[in-house]
Formats: sequence, C-alpha cells, structure tokens
Amino acid sequence: MTGWGSALPDKVVTNEDLAARLDTSDAWITERTGIRQRHMGGTTSELAVEAGRQAIASAGLEARDIDILVLATTTPDEVVPGTSASVQEGLGLSCGAFDVNAACSGFVYGLVVAHSLTLAGMRRVLLIGSETLSRITDLDDRSLAVIVGDGAGAVVLEATGGPGELISFDLGADGSLRHLLHCPHGGVLYMDGKEVFRKAVRVVVDSSLKALDGAGLGADQIDLFVPHQANARIITAAAERLGIPPERCVVTIDRYGNTSSASIPLALADALDTGRLTPGSLVLLSGFGGGMTWASAVLRWGG
Ligand code: COA
Repeated sequence: MTGWGSALPDKVVTNEDLAARLDTSDAWITERTGIRQRHMGGTTSELAVEAGRQAIASAGLEARDIDILVLATTTPDEVVPGTSASVQEGLGLSCGAFDVNAACSGFVYGLVVAHSLTLAGMRRVLLIGSETLSRITDLDDRSLAVIVGDGAGAVVLEATGGPGELISFDLGADGSLRHLLHCPHGGVLYMDGKEVFRKAVRVVVDSSLKALDGAGLGADQIDLFVPHQANARIITAAAERLGIPPERCVVTIDRYGNTSSASIPLALADALDTGRLTPGSLVLLSGFGGGMTWASAVLRWGG
C-alpha cells in the first residue's frame, strides 16, 4: 500500500442530536455501542472520489497511472451501473472499474481481489471502500439510526519489490444467515442486532485465527489490529478472545459510527495519520457483515 486517503461528509450528527428527536440518550448509545458521533451526507461516489483522489496523490501518482479501480460498497448510488463507473469518471481514470459488494466485509474482500490483480499483472490498483448507509436507514428507527455513519477510505496498492505484502487471508460466508441483516430494493435496512452481535464476535475471532494460522503467526505477534467498526463492545470482546491488548487495537467508531466497507480503510488511514504503523509492522484486518460474510487479512506494512 503506497498511498491512502479518507473522506467524511461535513455534517456531524452527535448523540445529543439524535436524542433530541428519538427516544434514546447519549448515555445509552455510548455505553451500548461506543459511538459518540457520526458523519452523514453526500453520495457514495462523491465520497469515493475524494478518498481516491487523496490516495492517488499520497502515493505520488496521477490518475493515468492507475491500472484498475476496485470499489467496495453495499450502498451504490444506483442499481445500474456500478458506482465505480461514476468514480472512474470523477477521478479521471482511464482504466477498468468494478464494484465489489460483500457488505461490511467488502474492503477486505476487495483487498484480496486487488492483490490478485497485481499478481495477474496490474501494477497499480486503487481500492476504495465507500458507503452512505444513512441513505438506506430509517432514521426514525432508534435501533439503527444511532449506529450508521457515512464515509470512504481508499488505498493504492502497487506491485513493488519492497517488504510490504499481503501474507495471508481468510474469506468466508454463510448465506443461510442473510436474513439477519438485509435491505430490499427501495427499502430500508433490517437488522437482528442481538444475533448479529453474537455471530460477529465468533466469526471475527475464528476468521482472524485462520488468517494468523495461514501466516504462521500468533496474535501476540500482531502490532496492530484493525477490525471492522460496528460496535465497540464487539471489538473489545473479539480482541480479548484473541489476546490482543487494547493499545494494539484501532478504534474509530466513537467518531465515525459504522461505515460498513469504509470502516477498515478509515481506521487504517487514522492509524497511519497518527504514526501507529512503521515499516515491518504486522497488521491484522478483520471484518464481518451482511450475508453473513467475514474476511481477515494479515499484512506486513511496507512503509
Ligand atoms: N436507545 C435507547 N434504547 C434502545 C435503543 C436506543 N438507540 N435501541 C434499542 N434500545 C432498547 C431496546 O428497545 C431494548 O429495550 P427493551 O429491553 O425495553 O426491549 C433495550 O434497548 C435493549 O435492546 P437490545 O437490542 O438488546 O440492545 P443491545 O444491547 O443488543 O444493543 C445493538 C443493540 C444494535 C447496539 C447491538 O445489538 C449491536 O451492536 N449489534 C450488532 C450490530 C452490528 O454489528 N451491526 C453491523 C453488522 S456489519
């Protein structure tokens, strides 16, 4: 990964803002989810273009250098075409572009796809996770309105001879659980929060252990754990079971809420911007979401 970027809508919605119009409170939201505020607004393509532009610039590249665009999203602007088409035009890219939808696991699925494309000869891949969950949420439903947030995160992957590498990964799905979290065409999100919570902790732990096993590493060797940001209690429970101490976990949910496939690249960008990754750092990414899907990856940071 040679460049990264992030984008958040200007509008910040605090817990107090929600408590002013819903039967909820800052105390309940903070205690049950760890969220204090989230950003809402914009379109998936606008946010993706902004994050993508930053990632290309921070890699020291121009739009023409990108060989392929992979956009992870579960909140496309339209059913047809893929939102990657608007993003491709918005960034002035001249390469192929396609969407990946694995719900909140989309970024890690996209990372594995992007990595495979470098093995297939593409030198520079732009991978973006971008979401506007607020658009498919009934904002009068207190159980979901307090959780969702909008945003985008992007990385440039380059096939280089440096030390940075994707060491191992685990991708999984169980389609028999798709009723737990879904949104019909033209409808709004439905979530069985309790059941998703229960399953989420288990799949994050199991999937992380599989990826670690594939890398021949123990959780104690991981320098930074970058989990999907769905609920601070899920992150704490999964990290505790893996034996990863809090100081090695990236938590951004307090500021961004659940931004689905944007949450891991936003958390990664946050860790990079605050100097939490150095060359050689071992990083574990792990996400889960509707499907259900789950995905984990172990990386060595190249710097
Ligand atoms: N404010 C105040 N009370 C709320 C509330 C809110 N925003 N939302 C729900 N409640 C109430 C419920 O109505 C219920 O009241 P009752 O006991 O009188 O029936 C009570 O709080 C407990 O509800 P419950 O659903 O058991 O809460 P919870 O502790 O499980 O927290 C979630 C709810 C959604 C935060 C939690 O289940 C969760 O995070 N699940 C996983 C979600 C997830 O990961 N989604 C993304 C997947 S990618």
